[in-house]
Amino acid sequence: MALAMPGSRNSRPYVILNAAMSLDGKIATYTGDSRMSSPSDLRRVHRLRASVDGIMVGMRTLLRDDPKLTVKFARGRKPHRIIVDSTAQTPLTSYVVRTAREIPTIVAVTSRAPKNRLEILERRGVKVFVCGKGPLVSVKILLQTLRKLGIRKILLEGGGALNWSMLSSGLVDEVSVAITPRILGGEKAVSLVEGKGRGLVRDGVKLKLLNTAKYGPDLVVRYKVLS
Ligand SMILES: NC(=O)c1ccc[n+]([C@@H]2O[C@H](COP(=O)([O-])OP(=O)(O)OC[C@H]3O[C@@H](n4cnc5c(N)ncnc54)[C@H](OP(=O)(O)O)[C@@H]3O)[C@@H](O)[C@H]2O)c1
Repeated sequence: MALAMPGSRNSRPYVILNAAMSLDGKIATYTGDSRMSSPSDLRRVHRLRASVDGIMVGMRTLLRDDPKLTVKFARGRKPHRIIVDSTAQTPLTSYVVRTAREIPTIVAVTSRAPKNRLEILERRGVKVFVCGKGPLVSVKILLQTLRKLGIRKILLEGGGALNWSMLSSGLVDEVSVAITPRILGGEKAVSLVEGKGRGLVRDGVKLKLLNTAKYGPDLVVRYKVLS
C-alpha cells in the first residue's frame, strides 16, 4: 500500500504539528500539568490557529485539559475542532461538546464505537466520522475524509501518542516546537512524541530546520518534515 508522503497533499490536508516542550522534551509534567507556553508564545499559537481549517487533538489531551481549541488574540479563520477518540468517549460535559453548535466540531471514531454514543454526540451538534475498524482511529482515513470536506490545513496539537501516529504514518509536513526554559524530568511525563519509536537513529523522522525565533523566554524552532 502506498504511504502518504509529505508532498502528496492533494489527498490530505497540510499538517503542522505544534507543541510547547521543556528542554528535556516533555509536553506535560508527570501530574499532567502542560501549561508551559509564555504569553508571547500563546499569541503565536493563536495566530497559527487562525491560519488553519482544523485543530486536532488526541483523546487523553481532551480528557486531561478540556481544551477550548478556539482562536483568541488573532483574527482569521474559525477552525474545526477535531477530536481523535476511538470509542466516542468524549464527555458530553467537555467544552468542545457544549459549544459544538457554535463551533464546528468533529469526533473521529472507529467502527467499534457504540452506535448509541455516536447518536448522542450527533444530537449535540458534533459531526462523527468513522475512520477504520481497528482499535485506534485510522489517521490516514481521517485526513482523507477531512480533505474531502474542504479542510486544507490542520494544526496538530498533540499529545505525544497522536503525534507519533501522525509522524510515523508520514502525515506531518511541518513541526513547530516552543522550547520553554525548564527541565521537568519524570519517566511518566509525556514527551513530544510517544508510541513505539524507531530503533535506529537513521530511521528517525528526518527534519530540515526552517527557522528559529524567540518568543519571550521561549525558543521556537520550526522544521520541515523530509521523510
Ligand atoms: N505542551 C503541549 O503543547 C501539549 C499539547 C497537547 C497535549 N499535551 C499533553 O499531552 C498529554 C496527553 O498526551 P498522550 O500522549 O497521553 O495522549 P494523546 O495523544 O492526547 O491521546 C492519545 C489517545 O488518543 C486516542 N487515539 C485514537 N486514535 C489514535 C491514534 N491513531 N493514535 C494515537 N492516539 C489515538 C487513544 O485513546 P482512545 O483509545 O480512547 O481513543 C489514545 O490513547 C496531556 O497531559 C496533555 O496535557 C501537551
